[in-house]
Amino acid sequence: MPRGKDDRLLKGGPIYGRTPGVDTAGEENMKQRYEKNILCIGAGYVGGPTMAVIAHKCPQYRVTVVDINHEKIRQWNSDRLPVFEEGLDGIVAAARGKNLFFSTDIEKGIKESEIIFVAVNTPTKTFGAGAGMAADLQYWEKTARQIREAADSPKIVVEKCTIPVRTALAMERILTSKSSRIDFEVVSNPEFLSEGTAIGDLESPDRVLIGSRETAGGIRARREIAGIYENWVPKERIIESNIWSSELSKLVANAFLAQRISSINAVSALCEKTEADVAEVGRAIGMDSRLGSSFLKASVGFGGSCFKKDILNLVYLCKSHGLHEVADYWESVVKINEYQKERFVLNMLGSMFNTLAGKKICLFGFAFKAGTGDTRETPALYVAKRLAEERAEIVITDPKALDNAKIDLAGIDGIRYVGDPYKAAAGCDAIAVLTEWGLYAGLDYRKVYRSMVKPAFIFDGRNVLDHQGLHKIGFNVFPIGKTALVHF
Ligand code: UDX
Repeated sequence: MPRGKDDRLLKGGPIYGRTPGVDTAGEENMKQRYEKNILCIGAGYVGGPTMAVIAHKCPQYRVTVVDINHEKIRQWNSDRLPVFEEGLDGIVAAARGKNLFFSTDIEKGIKESEIIFVAVNTPTKTFGAGAGMAADLQYWEKTARQIREAADSPKIVVEKCTIPVRTALAMERILTSKSSRIDFEVVSNPEFLSEGTAIGDLESPDRVLIGSRETAGGIRARREIAGIYENWVPKERIIESNIWSSELSKLVANAFLAQRISSINAVSALCEKTEADVAEVGRAIGMDSRLGSSFLKASVGFGGSCFKKDILNLVYLCKSHGLHEVADYWESVVKINEYQKERFVLNMLGSMFNTLAGKKICLFGFAFKAGTGDTRETPALYVAKRLAEERAEIVITDPKALDNAKIDLAGIDGIRYVGDPYKAAAGCDAIAVLTEWGLYAGLDYRKVYRSMVKPAFIFDGRNVLDHQGLHKIGFNVFPIGKTALVHF
């Protein structure tokens, strides 16, 4: 973004972490009183909410979040935050300008802080070696170099973003490559929050993981980071480990969670052939305390910014260590997810008499899950694109994700975006539920049925509707992993 435009955008709003009316001298005086000065580089889904919670829980620390994106920082300093999370607004409003600041002055932030969290994005590489699999570490590496250039006192650098195991070694090498005597300790503190429940996850996490080198300096550094969380997290939930275990645990946690969904989704295909019910199977196996009941809901497929990216990252790591069988094992989790999305579309096609051309299909939900407007890797995008290939007419409704859906589907003409689900479904041949928004279970489906073309179809890609009730109304109902209820 050109600089002139940024400056214009910043006019009129709070500037660089200063609240209106607080002068720099006042800010300097305030700074003296803080026990720790914490910086976070990267004001995205992870950095923003995490730092907001740290600032809120620890008024004795001064927390600054910086980003190269001026527009994003302007939004963090405004009433419309760039990230939607339940409860985030209140926390930011309470701490901002007191001990929480958002700024674009990265160099100043580095100089002033003893602890630097790095929460820049590490998307999947789209070019060169490892394209489509490996993590793209260019932003991360630029950040490490920036820290090295600006630092004039010892720092603890905390890896918050998800990175391949052994990234800390590269970070250490970059940080110590200048002939300066500045002491850097690299600590891994992976983020496990999930979107939609980020604030709750941060306020009462299952665990906080902190890894470091097993040297005196490394252990001191990780205790220092543990000390931040001890302000509100019970000690037994804060676990320390060697740095490589910590880095790897983040990738493996997401791989295991996604694996459970792919496992139950694979079983859902078998249920549809055998008159078993995937919800009953999920309940039966989930009550085994060794397995647990979470993440066993069959669906049209998992989405979100992490699962696919992190598994492919793990797969690439395995391949680069020559562990091809291990790589294949984890890659199959992603393959089943692709299969599940395609299976859903083929099921629609087969059930609607093998042609979707000219048929109107309404997508109930576009976000990758309920509670968020985020559409990254959403299965709805795959389904919409495939339906467009089949020349169906698509109508999309979603309470939070329509703006993102329009961006994601910008290249495809003729798609309608309608806020009201009743208006969206009217005149359609079929409804496909792709996000488990609570509102879809509560609609008046008699009214919906009356407004649709007959025979009317519902494909419940999230198993959230009352299938028997819908069938009684007259719908032909196709759940995931359960016998279809049809009238022909
Ligand atoms: C995930 C991890 O949960 C979190 O710990 C990590 O830090 C980031 O990645 P998130 O991507 O926000 O969080 O969403 P999550 O709630 O895990 O859901 C991921 C996808 O799986 C969604 O599309 C969801 O709808 C789907 N899902 C989840 C299922 O299909 N079935 C389930 O049983 C659970």
